[in-house]
Amino acid sequence: MLENLPYFQRHLPADMAKVNEVVNQAVQSDVALISQIGNYIISAGGKRLRPVITILAGKVLGYDDPKLYSLAAMVEFIHTSTLLHDDVVDESELRRGRATANNLFGNAAAVLVGDFLYTRAFQLMVGSGSMKILEVMADATNIIAEGEVMQLMNIGNTDITEAEYVQVIQYKTAKLFEAAAQVGAILAGADAGQEQALKDYGMYVGTAFQIIDDVLDYSGDTEETGKNVGDDLAEGKPTLPLIYLMQNGSETVAADVRNALENADRSYFEKIHAYVKDSDALAYCVTEARKAVDNAVACLEKLPQNEVSDALRALAEESLARVS
Ligand code: IPE
Ligand code: IPE
Ligand code: MG
Ligand code: MG
Repeated sequence: MLENLPYFQRHLPADMAKVNEVVNQAVQSDVALISQIGNYIISAGGKRLRPVITILAGKVLGYDDPKLYSLAAMVEFIHTSTLLHDDVVDESELRRGRATANNLFGNAAAVLVGDFLYTRAFQLMVGSGSMKILEVMADATNIIAEGEVMQLMNIGNTDITEAEYVQVIQYKTAKLFEAAAQVGAILAGADAGQEQALKDYGMYVGTAFQIIDDVLDYSGDTEETGKNVGDDLAEGKPTLPLIYLMQNGSETVAADVRNALENADRSYFEKIHAYVKDSDALAYCVTEARKAVDNAVACLEKLPQNEVSDALRALAEESLARVS
């Protein structure tokens, strides 16, 4: 019976159809290359996690208005533009199971279309008429840019601390999850406590999500992630599994990891992957992600308890389920 299905399965296809309607409309441009590349990355899918968070954040407080879908689409546009830019920066070749836009159309086109989607997102925000939402998103996108630059400065940095790593992922990734939730809260007219709870929920889910994503760069399956493994190592990115090995591995392991990061070459992948696999590194990362998910779930106690808060809880748990 339909009513026995979890909230997600009953409502989400309809909600996402409304988001996709805005997305498909807003990606259009008279400049053919923009629509072509925009459609290319958008039609490849993606999990649409951030717009789902916006929708659930609004709905948990009883809000359901066309603005919710338009701003959920806005959040997905910001995300998509950061992906276009990120794949240029990371020289990645595969995204959402397809050749990246930079790979297929070149760096210049990918960056410029990323700019188009980014500015279109701001047009959608202005359309909402909410100065507060504009402020939240202006601050969030500014922090995301800082996070990406901080990460760039840490390429090959074998002395990075875990706290510094966490700051980078909270800036580059968790901030958008936080803003996605906050936008839903603002639209719904949340009180200060509820808005803070949803904001924190987003931040914790985003943190867990990126930790797990960094694990998957070693242990993932391209079929499932739609991305190549080994990109982080090839770039010299000191993510949590490697920070763990540098701090807890034997002298040889720590030295080999440092050397691989400093030389940033894909040829080290097999060796480093074996170290990761044969150690507690992944278990440690999962434990850290688990803490963040528990914190996210605790935030939900401050909200009305209904089937939408159950869906938010399930979404937080799902960010962990990507690693088995
Ligand atoms: C990719 O995000 C970038 C990260 C923050 C790891 P997603 O894994 O949510 O990307 P899509 O939208 O599902 O492709
Ligand atoms: C993605 O970071 C964060 C942003 C897009 C801002 P990553 O570089 O770790 O994500 P993937 O692995 O390319 O998806
Ligand atoms: Mg990347
Ligand atoms: Mg990156």
